[in-house]
Amino acid sequence: MNPLAQQLNDTISRESPSIARMLSELGKAIYFPKVGILSQSAEAKQKAKLYNATIGIATEQGKPMHLQVIQDKLSAYDPKDLYEYAPPAGKPELRAIWRDKMLKENPSIAGHQISLPIVTNALTHGLSIVADLFADAGDAVVLPEKNWENYELTFGIRRGAVMVEYPLYDEQGKFNAAGLREALLAQKDKGKAIVVLNFPNNPTGYTPGAEEGRAIVAAIKDAAEAGIHIVVVTDDAYFGLFFEDSLHESLFGQLCGLHERVLPIKVDGATKEDYVWGFRVGFITYGGAPEATLAALEQKTLGIIRATISSGPHPSQTFVLDALKSPLFERQKAEKFAIMKSRANKVKQLLDSGKYGDEWEYYPFNSGYFMCLKLKTVEAEAVRQRLLEAYGVGTIALGSTDLRVAFSCIEEPQLEDLFDRIHKAVLDVKAAGAVQAGK
Ligand SMILES: Cc1ncc(COP(=O)(O)O)c(C=O)c1O
Repeated sequence: MNPLAQQLNDTISRESPSIARMLSELGKAIYFPKVGILSQSAEAKQKAKLYNATIGIATEQGKPMHLQVIQDKLSAYDPKDLYEYAPPAGKPELRAIWRDKMLKENPSIAGHQISLPIVTNALTHGLSIVADLFADAGDAVVLPEKNWENYELTFGIRRGAVMVEYPLYDEQGKFNAAGLREALLAQKDKGKAIVVLNFPNNPTGYTPGAEEGRAIVAAIKDAAEAGIHIVVVTDDAYFGLFFEDSLHESLFGQLCGLHERVLPIKVDGATKEDYVWGFRVGFITYGGAPEATLAALEQKTLGIIRATISSGPHPSQTFVLDALKSPLFERQKAEKFAIMKSRANKVKQLLDSGKYGDEWEYYPFNSGYFMCLKLKTVEAEAVRQRLLEAYGVGTIALGSTDLRVAFSCIEEPQLEDLFDRIHKAVLDVKAAGAVQAGK
């Protein structure tokens, strides 16, 4: 074992033995080289006032060398905020401002120790860091059966973890905390589990209410008390898009300090909430552990970043930072929120109008980009294909009954036409089935 990795492991074992138990083999072995090129270069940046000949960039007249064809288009920005490598943990000012934003939007974090957010190449990368540091072959990843399909690749295919699913909703159409508890307690023999909580949920657009939130936290606490070491990741990709009376905070806050055998990790970012999907700016934040453990986890995270992408893109960090500091930011975000909320309301109004008969019901939704229909009479895949072929409409079929509709990318005046077309496609598929059955 590298001595630096050993030092980090010793710190975590001393300060938080339960968290040491959660690390994967890779998580134990990884470290960030203290005396490597990046740290020597950082030192030189501070002290080498005459010539800094440390790092693999090129300079000219004291600025990063660059091509005018690029700079002309990005002239609002200083070359030093575009072309140089960003630090592996991300731009310090962006990390600080994101932390302030997180604390403001999630008052339940107050009073708990959390790390400074570390910049990731958006949320997928944050999730894959969690998988690298904490998932070994055979470890259980506990999540609702309606989930973002990429978890399977990130945790399952790449790291060999096993997906353990429970039904998302209970009989009342509320979050099934009892299912979560049961799935977690079933991991008692393994002594470890990774829980993924994603609200607003992809694909259903569901966020639990306050009472359901408490039940989720209680289920996790019960499992921790039963001896299970639990890494809980809140995937807050669609954070802030809460249209109704659900929780308006991440459960990360309530999970901090819950139990020594619970490690909360918040994965979030600008991707969806700030409408910058291609920028690839996300964050990973650790909570509810002593400062020395948080610092050691940060070092291990930097080790994974250095080993995989080395550092995130600098221009998009600059763009996001600039936006977050702008006095126009809040107002413009509120305007977009109003558009999204209004679309969600319109979808509900259409679905509740009775005009679509008894062909489907819809899963409860109150947030995010999506909603899901549950088709009662025909296969979702057949409807998806019919929609494409006859109606020029793209949707996502999930399993045999569910059709995911991203109202986030349909203008409000077109929503009725969209659902009319879906309804027609369902009737077409049903009629074709009846003809076949009659043959
Ligand atoms: C629930 C959820 N998490 C994470 C992501 C990935 O986000 P990013 O594009 O920032 O990697 C998505 C994207 O669809 C998502 O739906």
